[in-house]
Order: sequence, then structure tokens, then C-alpha cells
Amino acid sequence: MCGPNRTAGIGRISGFLGSVDQVEWQMRSRAHASDQDEVLPIEYPEFAGSNVLVSGAGTGIGRAVARAFCHQGAKVVGVDLDPEGLSETGSLVAGNGRFHPIQADVADPQEVIQAHEGAVAKFGDVSILVNNVGWSKRTAFADLDIDDWTHSLNVNLNHAFQFSRLCAPAMTAANCGIVVNMSSHAWMKLAGDLSAYHAAKAGLVGLTRGMARDLGARGVRVNAVAPGRVVTEHVADTVVTDAWIAETLRQQCLPSLITPADIANTVLWLSSDQSRAVTGQTIIVDGGTV
Ligand SMILES: NC(=O)c1ccc[n+]([C@@H]2O[C@H](COP(=O)([O-])OP(=O)(O)OC[C@H]3O[C@@H](n4cnc5c(N)ncnc54)[C@H](O)[C@@H]3O)[C@@H](O)[C@H]2O)c1
Repeated sequence: MCGPNRTAGIGRISGFLGSVDQVEWQMRSRAHASDQDEVLPIEYPEFAGSNVLVSGAGTGIGRAVARAFCHQGAKVVGVDLDPEGLSETGSLVAGNGRFHPIQADVADPQEVIQAHEGAVAKFGDVSILVNNVGWSKRTAFADLDIDDWTHSLNVNLNHAFQFSRLCAPAMTAANCGIVVNMSSHAWMKLAGDLSAYHAAKAGLVGLTRGMARDLGARGVRVNAVAPGRVVTEHVADTVVTDAWIAETLRQQCLPSLITPADIANTVLWLSSDQSRAVTGQTIIVDGGTV
């Protein structure tokens, strides 16, 4: 990961062009998820032996990130509230023994500590940390209460601070470490009824820049990814309609829906030496929406 011999490029997974029937889309989206290992043609040998922690690995983007790292030979601890989702992720990854599930609620600081302890006990110190868990609830600002506000900050932002704080000492001691925080483009495009989510996701960008400044001299790079509309399993099952597809493609410059693997490929690149001069940045992966 931090050595000189690195391979180039990012595998491009072909998107699904144009408007498709909803059921067909869901089938194709799920088929795509199970094909993922076969359509990541780029090899990053530096990840063999890396210890990766991915929060929210029970489905969606986190699952795709976990699968992508396992495919590259890394050992991956997946942390999630949902044990069944983690089990499904485990059954999908290449090299099943390289994936270790830990059930935890990252809104609870004590469970984050325990999850980190479990990860270190299983594979050793974390060398690549992907703070991916997210939570949102659409609420008009006038109706936003302190409980949802606090939960949003705990799940989206505070857990990233806490995992980062726990992992940083070993990373700086090794003079080598990667942190990737999962933000969103939603706050940049002024999406409505998401003030608590926006505050947390914009906060992640600030955290990313602060950590990059403080840890860069000690070998740790910290970046964020801001996805646009990504067709995860959950989105495919609950949100996708022909109208949704048409609206999404209208907003984007690129006429191709974004998949979890598109985000995972960006995380791989940010974690590889191909991006060794990049830190403190937020990479927007939204097909050109904002
Ligand atoms: N999907 C999108 O279109 C999109 C767009 C922009 C940003 N994002 C961000 O990307 C990240 C992943 O999104 P996704 O769509 O794959 O999410 P998802 O909702 O499909 O999955 C989230 C995962 O996090 C887990 N989780 C939720 N709360 C948790 C908690 N308190 N403790 C532990 N685990 C918990 C869930 O069980 C689930 O497995 C999130 O941070 C999200 O905000 C997603």
C-alpha cells in the first residue's frame, strides 16, 4: 500500500444505459452485484496482506467495498448492525476466510471501541479504514427533533471520528495508513429535508481535511468520497422506478446509473499508491450532477 511497486488504473464497470423496466433493472442490479468480482479487472498487489475495516459492510456500498478489497487479497473486517447482511457479504466475497464480520451499533461509542478491539484481535492493526456507515431520514427542518439530529451525527460523523481516533496511533507508528470517509453529494446539491444528514456529511469533509493536515507528515492519507445516487440493493428494491431513473439520468452529465462498484473502485484507488499525492480531498462520484 505504501511501497513503490504499484499497478495503475481503475476497473470501469459498465453502467446500465437508458431507462429500463423496473423489475428488469432490479434483476440486473442484483445480478451485477454477484458478478462484481469478475468485472474488477485491475489488480492492486499492494493490498495483499492489508488489514481493512469497513463500517456498514452488511449491504450496499460497504458490501461492494468489502468485496473489492477481499478480491484484491486484503483481510477485511466488516462492521454492521445487521448480522444477516454481514453473513451475506461473507458468502459473496472472494476468499471467504479473509472476511470477518463484527456486529455493532456504531451509534454507541462503546460498541465502536469493542468493534475496533475485535478487528485488531482478528487480523492485527487496521491499515485501511473505510468509514462508510450512513443514516438519513427525510424531515423538514421545522420538524427536526434533537433525537434524530443526534442520531444522524452519531451514525454519520461521530463513528468516523471514533474509528479514526482508534486506528490512527498504529497507522502513524507504521508511518503508513489510509482513511476514506463516505460523504455524499446531497449537501452540495441542496437536497431538501435532510439538514441533519447534510450537517454530518459536510462535517465528514471537514474531518477529512483536518485529519489529512495533522496526520499527513506521519504517513497517513485521508480522503472522502461523495457519491451521488447509487443503485444499491436497498435503492433497487425501494426507490427505483422508471421515473426515478429518468430523473437521475437527467440530473447527471453521464447517461449511466451509478453502481456500488463505481464507488468501491474509487475507494480502491484512493487507498492505493496510484493516489499517493492525494490527501484531504473529496472525490465526487455522481456522474456529473453537482
Ligand atoms: N446509496 C446512495 O445513493 C448514497 C448516496 C450518497 C451517499 N451515500 C452514503 O454511502 C454510504 C453507504 O450507503 P448505502 O446506500 O450503501 O447504505 P445502505 O443504507 O444500503 O446500508 C447501510 C448499512 O449500514 C448499516 N448501518 C446503519 N446504521 C448502522 C449503525 N448504527 N451501526 C452499524 N451499522 C449500521 C446498515 O445495517 C446497512 O448494512 C452511507 O454513508 C451513505 O450516506 C449513499
